[in-house]
Amino acid sequence: MPTASFDLLPNANPKADTLRDGILANPGFGSYFTDHMAHVRWTLDTGWHGHEVRPYGPLTLDPAAAVLHYGQEIFEGIKAYRHADGSIWTFRPEKNAERFRRSARRLALPELSDEDFIGSLKALLAQDHAWVPTPASAADECSLYLRPFMIASEAFLGVRPSQEVDYYVIASPAAAYFKGGIAPVSIWLSTHYKRAAPGGTGFAKCGGNYAASLAAQKEASAHDCSQVAFLDAVENTWIEELGGMNLFFVYRDGRVVTPRLTDTILEGVTRDSVLTLARDEGLTPEERPISIDEWREGAASGEITEVFACGTAAVITPVGELVTENERIRLTGGDGNPIAKRLRTKLLDLQYGRAEDTHGWLTRL
Ligand code: COI
Repeated sequence: MPTASFDLLPNANPKADTLRDGILANPGFGSYFTDHMAHVRWTLDTGWHGHEVRPYGPLTLDPAAAVLHYGQEIFEGIKAYRHADGSIWTFRPEKNAERFRRSARRLALPELSDEDFIGSLKALLAQDHAWVPTPASAADECSLYLRPFMIASEAFLGVRPSQEVDYYVIASPAAAYFKGGIAPVSIWLSTHYKRAAPGGTGFAKCGGNYAASLAAQKEASAHDCSQVAFLDAVENTWIEELGGMNLFFVYRDGRVVTPRLTDTILEGVTRDSVLTLARDEGLTPEERPISIDEWREGAASGEITEVFACGTAAVITPVGELVTENERIRLTGGDGNPIAKRLRTKLLDLQYGRAEDTHGWLTRL
């Protein structure tokens, strides 16, 4: 694949090395940003043009920009990992590029090529490589979280696809997404709010899906839960996803089950990788509908031994309990989430170059 060429507008005031080192020692998630951002512009007449890496900073947007009114926006999440020899790699970026194009089609935005998508990550990392943290141990999941996004920037209040669009990539050093690291999280079951409906945008990674999940997320926080599980909008029965993560269920007999993809579920890159790694580990991956009753009964009988969430940000995080208005569904059969931990170690070892990349999933940045 040819590499896209990006002009460089260097940042005259990059953060001092000592400030950067302080941030990298304790980055949290999503709070700090590197010195540069990548940008490509699209107009109906010219197509994609103006590839550049420029200083990180506020955007100038017309108050009438379509994204501010109609939410015409999509994004991605992908990480850069530092290997022991200092080299920097990313994981299955062509999957994110492909999903970004799927999201673009649904949101009536222009499609970006693999060359521009992966090229923008490489161009940004060429400047901001010092921001990729070095893991202190095999348990350390620190990385540089990359956030490509595309917004409708035309100043026009009529409702139609924008004729001017901007694509950016920003980068944020990251530790574990959940404060407790891999300690099991509590999940709130949203029975009233729905994240996505058939024919809608559930399969696309667009801001609107996340905005639609926030009222339920507030309910979750009020019940001391860190995430929300959403059921399908038609029958209020089938488990879909957590809004920002996919879900897996581990059965006593070695089956590892995740809801089958529909147009209301986001196709996670980590989800797809877990299905492959589970097979590599001699487990039996299955994609099929799973009802909330199956979760409840499987947890009570010990048939389901573990539940875990997975995503780029969350990696693989065990779920300890599902909380509803009047019940707490806890798992009785599991003992320390061994399968979730095994798959998590496999995945992290691969991403950080500690295990052989037998599937060809790594790309050097
Ligand atoms: C990701 O995992 O990359 C996401 O976009 C999810 C969000 C919870 C940070």
